[in-house]
Amino acid sequence: MEEHSRTTQGSQILFAFLHGFVLLCMSMSIPLESATLPPRASGGTFGNETDRAALLDLKKRITQDPLHVMNSWNDSIHFCSWVGVTCNNSTKRVLILMLNSKNLVGFLPPSIGNLSHLTGINLVNNSFSGEIPQEMGRLQSLRSLNLSYNSFGGKIPTNISHCTLLSMLDLQHNEITGSIPDQLSSLMSLNHLWLTINNLTGTIPNWIGNFSSLKSLFLGQNNFQGSIPNELGRLTGLEWLGLDSNNLSGMVPSSIYNISSMYVFSVFDNQLHGELPPNIGIHLPNLQEFYGGANKFTGTIPTSLSNSSRLRMLDLRQNGLIGTLPAATLGRLQRLVRISFSYNRLESGKTGNLNFLSFLANCTSLRLLALNNNHFEGELPRSIGNLSTQLKYLFLGRNLIRGSIPDDIGNLLSLNDLGMEENYLSGIVPDEIGKLQKLATLYLYTNRFSGLIPSSIGNLTSLTQLYMYENRFAGSIPPNIGNCQSLLELDLSNNNISGTIPRELVGISSLSISLYLSNNYLTGSLPSEVGDLIHLVELDVSGNKLSSEIPTTLGSCIMLVHLHLEGNEFEGTIPQSLKNLRSLEEIDISRNNLSGQIPEFLGKFPFLYYLNLSYNDFEGELPKEGIFSNASGLSVIGNNRLCGGLPKLRLHACSIKKSHSSQRLLAPKVVIPISCALAFIIAMSCFIVARSKVNKSRGGPAASHSYKGWKSISYLELVQSTGSFSMDNLIGSGSFGSVYKGVLPTDGRVVAVKVLNLQQGGASKSFIDECKALRSIRHRNLVKIITACSSIDTQGNDFKSLVFEFMENGSLDSWLHPRDDEQSQSRD
Ligand SMILES: *[C@@H]1O[C@H](CO)[C@@H](O)[C@H](O)[C@H]1NC(C)=O
Ligand SMILES: *[C@@H]1O[C@H](CO)[C@@H](O)[C@H](O)[C@H]1NC(C)=O
Ligand SMILES: *[C@@H]1O[C@H](CO)[C@@H](O)[C@H](O)[C@H]1NC(C)=O
Ligand SMILES: *[C@@H]1O[C@H](CO)[C@@H](O)[C@H](O)[C@H]1NC(C)=O
Ligand SMILES: *[C@@H]1O[C@H](CO)[C@@H](O)[C@H](O)[C@H]1NC(C)=O
Ligand SMILES: *[C@@H]1O[C@H](CO)[C@@H](O)[C@H](O)[C@H]1NC(C)=O
Ligand SMILES: *[C@@H]1O[C@H](CO)[C@@H](O)[C@H](O)[C@H]1NC(C)=O
Ligand SMILES: *[C@@H]1O[C@H](CO)[C@@H](O)[C@H](O)[C@H]1NC(C)=O
Ligand SMILES: *[C@@H]1O[C@H](CO)[C@@H](O)[C@H](O)[C@H]1NC(C)=O
Ligand SMILES: *[C@@H]1O[C@H](CO)[C@@H](O)[C@H](O)[C@H]1NC(C)=O
Ligand SMILES: *[C@@H]1O[C@H](CO)[C@@H](O)[C@H](O)[C@H]1NC(C)=O
Ligand SMILES: *[C@@H]1O[C@H](CO)[C@@H](O)[C@H](O)[C@H]1NC(C)=O
Repeated sequence: MEEHSRTTQGSQILFAFLHGFVLLCMSMSIPLESATLPPRASGGTFGNETDRAALLDLKKRITQDPLHVMNSWNDSIHFCSWVGVTCNNSTKRVLILMLNSKNLVGFLPPSIGNLSHLTGINLVNNSFSGEIPQEMGRLQSLRSLNLSYNSFGGKIPTNISHCTLLSMLDLQHNEITGSIPDQLSSLMSLNHLWLTINNLTGTIPNWIGNFSSLKSLFLGQNNFQGSIPNELGRLTGLEWLGLDSNNLSGMVPSSIYNISSMYVFSVFDNQLHGELPPNIGIHLPNLQEFYGGANKFTGTIPTSLSNSSRLRMLDLRQNGLIGTLPAATLGRLQRLVRISFSYNRLESGKTGNLNFLSFLANCTSLRLLALNNNHFEGELPRSIGNLSTQLKYLFLGRNLIRGSIPDDIGNLLSLNDLGMEENYLSGIVPDEIGKLQKLATLYLYTNRFSGLIPSSIGNLTSLTQLYMYENRFAGSIPPNIGNCQSLLELDLSNNNISGTIPRELVGISSLSISLYLSNNYLTGSLPSEVGDLIHLVELDVSGNKLSSEIPTTLGSCIMLVHLHLEGNEFEGTIPQSLKNLRSLEEIDISRNNLSGQIPEFLGKFPFLYYLNLSYNDFEGELPKEGIFSNASGLSVIGNNRLCGGLPKLRLHACSIKKSHSSQRLLAPKVVIPISCALAFIIAMSCFIVARSKVNKSRGGPAASHSYKGWKSISYLELVQSTGSFSMDNLIGSGSFGSVYKGVLPTDGRVVAVKVLNLQQGGASKSFIDECKALRSIRHRNLVKIITACSSIDTQGNDFKSLVFEFMENGSLDSWLHPRDDEQSQSRD
């Protein structure tokens, strides 16, 4: 469940988008060059009047201009001096219109076609909408048309076919529909054709293969279907080919693997099948980035890849590849930054071990090695410590790996995320793990680790997620785990851990997602420091031997949504302080030794849908409101002194006078066993369903990295839901990152996706701050966190986001300025 998470299905989708900005700058130089070309026709009075009228017409269609750019478009100066207008010096005809990133809202009028000498149009990154006018076709000198990052809709105007000098056509990131019109086959001068991130349909036209000077072709993130035309193989000067995230099927034509100039090739996230050609590296010697992940490729990994000596990115995850990892081959590629083969069927081969990893020691730039979800077997070799010291992400989870973690792991000082979950690893976890000071996530769950949890874990002060559940860890929890003050999630459940819960542990106030200690042998009380967990959403200490009273300080954990204390030896009453926990949705305190009355406030929790009080010693009358008025999520069996409640619960009626009750008690006693059994079955089946849902979200194969109990969401889904984080969906941004509005593809729910800006240093620190800040907003306005997504982008950088229910009229400001909001809250 690792790599999908970080390097999720969608990571590369944005590659065209990211590189787009680089080429964007290139494209801007095109019109400038052409400014020196002689005009096609002489201007004359009519000409310049036409230009002026057309420009003023454009100004009229601009409905919002917050930067007041258009103010300069007035009669006090010549239009050639207007902002964004460049004229030919002698003819005074408009050559270039450049109004990028001016926050303009409006339409493009047909009169744009009157600016007949235009060579370049750049309206990138505004909010132009409506259709692109057919009159564009009259601009027969046009060399560069760049309308990307707007909201243009409709179809690609067929009349653009007359702009035969066009060298750059960039309509990326709009809402353009329909197919690529065949008329465009006349644009034989095109160097760059960029249509990424639109709603284009149909097939990829084979005549694109006639564009002999094409250098880059980006068609990613549309709805193209059919196969990749063979003719594209004729583009012998092609350097960038981005066809990612479409519905392309069939095989990649072998002619494509023949384009020796190619250095970025992405077919990521399609339905392509077939084998990679054995000589791929010989025919693509310049290849630097190859994204073939999330397809249906089969066969083995060609060793000729070593001949693509400049290869940096190699991503073939989520395919059906078999055989071994040609590590000796890959070891020759010293520039490799990223190797991802997760979710395939690769195996260790004849040797049956993982010694091949030593060959990768020469890849000294390696930052990501993802081999999770394959069939690799054998012991982890010591040579793992010889991998690049730059390695940030190492994913080996869900294989058949045995043995223990070598001490040498401590050499990998840059490690950010280490995933070894769901293997057969055993032995103790070496102290050296504490050397990995940059570690943010450590996944060791579902293995056979034993011995103590190393106390050096307390050195991992950047750790945000620590998953050690389902192992055989024993002994007590080292108190210095309390130094891990960045932890958001901690799961030690299902081990053999004994001793008391260290105060230091429940004092980790950064814990804001979950704390799971269930199914161990913990004793003593739940320390009162639990009240420091004021951001925590899920607390589960069930299935231990905890005793004493439930600490009243628990009432400070006002973010709690799930509270599980069942199967312990807690005694005393339910503390009144718990009435503050109004976010609770699930409470299970069954199978303890609790007594006293059931407090009325439990009936007043607005979101509570599951309440299990069974097998305690509660007494008195059940409250009537809320969950008590609907027996489906309520279980009270095994509390023989309770009375009242819904008839369904079959408790005996509460007598008004105590003296009568002795008589009444007799009759129901006969009924109780049957009804109890029934209620128990119903309650348990509800419970099992609820739990199995939780469990599923832990490790569904294609699931993204999701926080337990929350709906899992993949990076790809986030990309889809926000239109690839389009400007249109940008609600706001600040130093922390950006908030986008999105619609979840699965259920159509409108969400706000907060993408944290982790480039500015202090990555995990800021994630915590954001979590904290946003959770406090959540509480005040009852905005619900739906999930969080943690991944990495194509550059290997962290990607973290939080997904919230969208508040149409919510306090937008508090989204944008969470820190101010925190302050205002503390003033409350
Ligand atoms: C049009 O061109 C004429 C002569 O070249 C010049 O005098 C006049 O100012 C121009 N008008 C505008 C509006 O630029
Ligand atoms: C554009 O040119 C046409 C003639 O070619 C003219 O009729 C029309 O008024 C012009 N529009 C503007 C806004 O200048
Ligand atoms: C016209 O544009 C000039 C140059 O930007 C500016 O200084 C002037 O204030 C503008 N006049 C009006 C009436 O907006
Ligand atoms: C888009 O325009 C806004 C506002 O002018 C600017 O802040 C932002 O940097 C631009 N984005 C890009 C990618 O150019
Ligand atoms: C399409 O382009 C042709 C050739 O430039 C031009 O004559 C025609 O007016 C254009 N059509 C429209 C609707 O503008
Ligand atoms: C593409 O080129 C081929 C060969 O030169 C030619 O036969 C074909 O007609 C061209 N296709 C288009 C749509 O121009
Ligand atoms: C690949 O290129 C070589 C040499 O240019 C050519 O002989 C061969 O036919 C091409 N193969 C394909 C499948 O296009
Ligand atoms: C490919 O690489 C191998 C191993 O480095 C080398 O022996 C072979 O000559 C290379 N082939 C070509 C065509 O460069
Ligand atoms: C690693 O690099 C060294 C020196 O460049 C070379 O001698 C060695 O053969 C390389 N190892 C592998 C596995 O390629
Ligand atoms: C790790 O690298 C060192 C130095 O290159 C070498 O001496 C050692 O044998 C390697 N260890 C393993 C386990 O491969
Ligand atoms: C943990 O930190 C302590 C104090 O900073 C240091 O002495 C110890 O060597 C560290 N342990 C490891 C395994 O890095
Ligand atoms: C529960 O409480 C009763 C009465 O205080 C006590 O006798 C019993 O031993 C307790 N049971 C457990 C499991 O602690």
